[in-house]
Amino acid sequence: MAINTTISLPGDKSISHRAVMLASIANGVSEITNLNDGKDVQSTIQALRACGASIDQNGEKVVITGTELRNPDEPVDCGNSGTSARLLSGLLSSQRLQFSLTGDASLSARPMNRIIVPLTEMGCSIESNDGLLPLTIDASNPLNGINYKMPVASAQVKSSILLAGLGAESSSNVSELNSSRDHTEIMLQNMGATVLVNDNDIRVEPLSSPLTPIDLEIPSDPSSASFFIALAILSKDSKIIVRNMLLNPTRIGFMNVLEKINIQTNISNQHYIHGELCGDVEFISSPINSFEVPAYIIPSIIDEIPILAVLAAFGEGKTIFNRVEELQFKESNRLQAIIDNLKNFGINAYKEDNSLIVEGGHPTMATVQSFDDHRIAMAFIVLSIAAFGEYEIDNKECINISLPGFFNTIEVMLS
Ligand code: S3P
Repeated sequence: MAINTTISLPGDKSISHRAVMLASIANGVSEITNLNDGKDVQSTIQALRACGASIDQNGEKVVITGTELRNPDEPVDCGNSGTSARLLSGLLSSQRLQFSLTGDASLSARPMNRIIVPLTEMGCSIESNDGLLPLTIDASNPLNGINYKMPVASAQVKSSILLAGLGAESSSNVSELNSSRDHTEIMLQNMGATVLVNDNDIRVEPLSSPLTPIDLEIPSDPSSASFFIALAILSKDSKIIVRNMLLNPTRIGFMNVLEKINIQTNISNQHYIHGELCGDVEFISSPINSFEVPAYIIPSIIDEIPILAVLAAFGEGKTIFNRVEELQFKESNRLQAIIDNLKNFGINAYKEDNSLIVEGGHPTMATVQSFDDHRIAMAFIVLSIAAFGEYEIDNKECINISLPGFFNTIEVMLS
């Protein structure tokens, strides 16, 4: 069935986390609209409230009155959200707090040494369960700045250090392997902090005065959009327009991949919202070619690899995603989850060294195995609907982590 639709989506999840965190310590009242409505951002809001933040969620608008945060009375539950756990570790440390962070089973299995090491070097005293949650962080002593070469490409780790650096006694430098999403840098600059970016080197100065508040309408989340875009692409003679989509170059690597596999994209109405590029984007379906994704763009498509692997399943030939080892440390082991689901659907997929290989073919019906991971669930529901017009899944609840409106939008697209 042909799809011809225009959608607007809830705000970008990464920007939403950062907006509520930074507004909570700003000097005045911030108003945020189109905040991401998933459970992860609620985890950040609840965590900040437990530290005394004033966050008023009133329908469409979220009003945040900056305040001095205090130690939480109890361990703070980050739910399923790696962004909450890792960024809050840095932010709350910058406020010289003492706190513990917990999470659900998935988050409790994800590596935290990547933030424990640099934050400890900055002067935090941290106890963990052998590099995993729960973390107990004592940042009450003065923090020193750090010069840190990141061993992994991770925006969460980079952001954790930059946020902690706001409260340090000297400047901090972070060097990235490959550039990862830069929303923390952009938002900090827009709220008055000194953040200097030189290619993959970022320097943050300690705050000499509080951040200025921000009024922000958060653009549509491109990672959420990618599932609907894929469904349209896989439907013959179809097109989809995503309105006011975030176009930050560190986030739209998937659009470059789509262009390579033969999908026409048209961007219009480009504009900046507080330093973040956004615009309306049209995608037009056509038969898909195979492609080889180079390692250096992996950070800019890290959350889109499950859905790109689904597109590859329908492609002509063999698609290679180079150096995707970081996928093993997401909400599930996404590398294995992608391979298992593709195989269940009759598509040959395997890993070779640290690369993922998908051989295009003709899917056969199977039940989607979500691994309780929102992006795995959505990617393979799209595969199943595109191939068979229907789906079966073990757990669709997990989709509420990032995109509670997923099924409504699918329904609108197919109606
Ligand atoms: C995020 C960074 C990425 C991404 C996650 C959100 C962020 O994680 O996968 O969904 O908001 O900073 P890593 O930085 O660990 O790659």
